[in-house]
Amino acid sequence: MAPAPEMKFPPENLVNRSLELILANQSPSGAFIASPNFPTYAFCWFRDGSYIAYALDLYNQHDASARFHAWAADVISQRVELIQRALQKAAAGQLLSDADILHTRYTLTGQENTATSWENFQLDGFGTWLWALAEHQRLSQQPLSPAMLASARLVADYLVGLWDHPCYDCWEEFGDQIHPHTLAAIYGGLVAYGQLTTDHRHATTTAIRAFLYQKGLAAGRWQKFLGNHQVDASLLAISTPYRLLSPSDPIMISTVQKIEADLCAGGVKRYLADTYYGGGRWILLAAWLGWYWCEVGQPEKAHQLRQWIEAQADERGWLPEQVPLGLNNDSMFAPWVQRWGPVATPLLWSHAEYLILTKMLPEPR
Ligand code: BGC
Repeated sequence: MAPAPEMKFPPENLVNRSLELILANQSPSGAFIASPNFPTYAFCWFRDGSYIAYALDLYNQHDASARFHAWAADVISQRVELIQRALQKAAAGQLLSDADILHTRYTLTGQENTATSWENFQLDGFGTWLWALAEHQRLSQQPLSPAMLASARLVADYLVGLWDHPCYDCWEEFGDQIHPHTLAAIYGGLVAYGQLTTDHRHATTTAIRAFLYQKGLAAGRWQKFLGNHQVDASLLAISTPYRLLSPSDPIMISTVQKIEADLCAGGVKRYLADTYYGGGRWILLAAWLGWYWCEVGQPEKAHQLRQWIEAQADERGWLPEQVPLGLNNDSMFAPWVQRWGPVATPLLWSHAEYLILTKMLPEPR
């Protein structure tokens, strides 16, 4: 057995510290800053925020989660014309500009950040939001407000109209490609929305499934993007949580075997060619893989990943976005530090995934 890793922060306190950090960094608007100490991440992402809200719901922090969802619903409701324009242009086969699409991240008061250019066109976060909203209702047992439902409907319409457009992936890269992870997030979001409202979008969910089975596989595994046969750790989400297929489906098993072989060594890398901060090991992906292991009845593996995460917390109990160990490309670490500063720490999404993993493990903390 491997020796227990050294801990800088008492692991038994990391759940509470994670909850404290998340709640302390919720803006009065309800938005969650992605990281309070990393200027480039001083925004609220639909993707990060939705997982953070889900983690809060798992720990009965329903009010804070509801405040996030109200913020998100408000961002959407102020963009009805934009959504209609996007849908009309897409239906007419016209090119969508940055001004025609929902951005992936907003200022904490819900504005687009136009000061710097960004990979704004990402669809996965909106599917994730619908999924997290349905989970919020399920876990809180509270009905959603009419405003939330109205915005959910707008998002469902938006996704139905745009799902087959190439867009940036959940790592904000490869904007001219189609990503199975993104399509699964849209699928999971639309299915959740249908269960929530009975406003089913069967034609689109059926089309997404058929498309993915036809084009998204290579050698019996999900591909990073169409035509790129590498795996990406975000493919885990296709089953966990978006349930395009079950976690024990042979396609998921084979995909996860490859993720484990290529990307997992303590923590989990995003993909082999990743050079962001050199391409290190991500906390949130280690937790995600652990979440998957819990779902397929392998809690020992999940436990090891949790232990690895706990050993990465600093003296304050802060978790970074990634740990610069076993980098894919050593020479790419310093240039990113020079450009944006040290790795984002704490990253709220890392803490949220740690909370999710800990909740899924049979052995409580
Ligand atoms: C990650 C995104 C994330 C954002 C904010 C980016 O570097 O690739 O997945 O949403 O940071 O945390």
